Amino acid sequence: MANNKNDNLTRRDVVQLGAAAALSAPFLQTVKAASNQIQLGLIGTGGRGQYHITHLNKLDGHKLVAACDLYEPNLKKAIADSKDKPQGYKDYRELLSRKDVDAVMIAAPLYMHYPMTRDAILAGKHVFCEKSLVFKPEEAFALRALMKEHSRQVLQVGLQRRYSQFYQVARQMIDKGLLGDVTNVYAQWHRNLVAKPSKNWIMKKNDPRGDDANWRLLKKMSGGLTGELASHQIDIADWMFGSHPEMVMGLGGVDYFKDGRDNYDNIQLIFRYPKGQRLMYSSICTNSHSPMFNASRTEFGEIIMGTKGTLHLTVGTDEEPALGLWFREPEKPAEAGAGAKPVVAGASLASTGKGSKSLPVLLGKDEVTEKDTFLSKEMKYARRWLYSKGVMVPEEDKNPVDTQLESFFECCRNGGKPKADIEVGLADSSAVMMSNLAMDEGRRVYFNEFEKMAAGKKA
Ligand SMILES: NC(=O)c1ccc[n+]([C@@H]2O[C@H](COP(=O)([O-])OP(=O)(O)OC[C@H]3O[C@@H](n4cnc5c(N)ncnc54)[C@H](O)[C@@H]3O)[C@@H](O)[C@H]2O)c1
Repeated sequence: MANNKNDNLTRRDVVQLGAAAALSAPFLQTVKAASNQIQLGLIGTGGRGQYHITHLNKLDGHKLVAACDLYEPNLKKAIADSKDKPQGYKDYRELLSRKDVDAVMIAAPLYMHYPMTRDAILAGKHVFCEKSLVFKPEEAFALRALMKEHSRQVLQVGLQRRYSQFYQVARQMIDKGLLGDVTNVYAQWHRNLVAKPSKNWIMKKNDPRGDDANWRLLKKMSGGLTGELASHQIDIADWMFGSHPEMVMGLGGVDYFKDGRDNYDNIQLIFRYPKGQRLMYSSICTNSHSPMFNASRTEFGEIIMGTKGTLHLTVGTDEEPALGLWFREPEKPAEAGAGAKPVVAGASLASTGKGSKSLPVLLGKDEVTEKDTFLSKEMKYARRWLYSKGVMVPEEDKNPVDTQLESFFECCRNGGKPKADIEVGLADSSAVMMSNLAMDEGRRVYFNEFEKMAAGKKA
């Protein structure tokens, strides 16, 4: 729960809270009848594939009929965990040859995303592919060309923040000018692998799978922290700025976990966007503190900064839901006149010592409308009062991961452009590649180099 101390809420605060509430994100449509179920295949049943199964088990509108993994223990666990008991495959092309499979979800290592997505599209399937979408520049161009020829098929990327109502409301707040000119984003994903070793991020020696067990740590198979973590958050900066970076510089190193990995365990990046906006990014593996949300959350989140205000955003986890806080910039000081207090030399106390109070970012369900009954209006006012006191925080009705999956099924059934579509995915992937190049070569990398990097190479 956010630790908001809005004890002195003014009438103006309440009006602004109402303004944020009025910027409601659209609710997603409900799923259709069982007869219109998507027949689904899952390729890659490791950590993410199994996580998706726990979510799929709770969702309607699909049946998981097939699952594929090279590694038998993961495949067996996925089949056992799924309520649909899918048929298992070792070779993903066999799964793709099944005529009854409408759509596939790809949750395999990054270096396999393009070949699997290409083969699935060529086999006539709709595709949900985990982020980041592609691994090499030439794959970006080849996939865009392929999708032009298969424009009736859906390609959605696993960037679930795009499906969070908090992020949608944030974007709408920017559109309405509530943050002023948005000039900077700070994003971090800090983990402490010393205190909390994670099976995926520490080198596994003597694993029968060899490199496949350690793909995240190896440059030949993955984009490391940039591809696995920053990709989510660079996408948020792109979305909130409404543009893509034109230049990136950064420092990356294998500074702590000298266990044979060549992907960095410590990265800091600075991106410049076309209107001079900047994204500062950090991902480290030795400390999980976050200054966001009054330090009530750890690890990850994004701060969106504008001339009139700031937002703290996080998509959360299954245990700690998505959240947004809004801080307004301090008011202009009153005109100095007779009796005005002298200003402290340099930065005044008022500007350095007194931050603004956080206000919760409200969702559409808290908006009071004419249609509300007396009772539901009273309930909404009561809830908003509790939010403003920090006693309660607004929560989405659904985890954004569930929303993204339901939205994918809906696009497969009725058409429509996914919020995280191919262009979102390709812009995100190119930023990952350019960032890693900037750190590898220790130079400023300009995004107009991207096309040249693909030239003459076949995906
Ligand atoms: N959106 C998110 O928040 C999120 C979170 C975690 C992971 N991911 C993404 O999900 C993907 C998988 O990550 P993970 O954590 O599950 O990794 P993982 O290593 O736990 O699982 C990958 C699985 O793919 C299997 N595999 C590898 N090559 C294969 C092939 N040729 N055919 C069939 N199966 C194959 C492996 O055996 C393994 O079981 C990655 O792209 C990762 O970035 C996304």
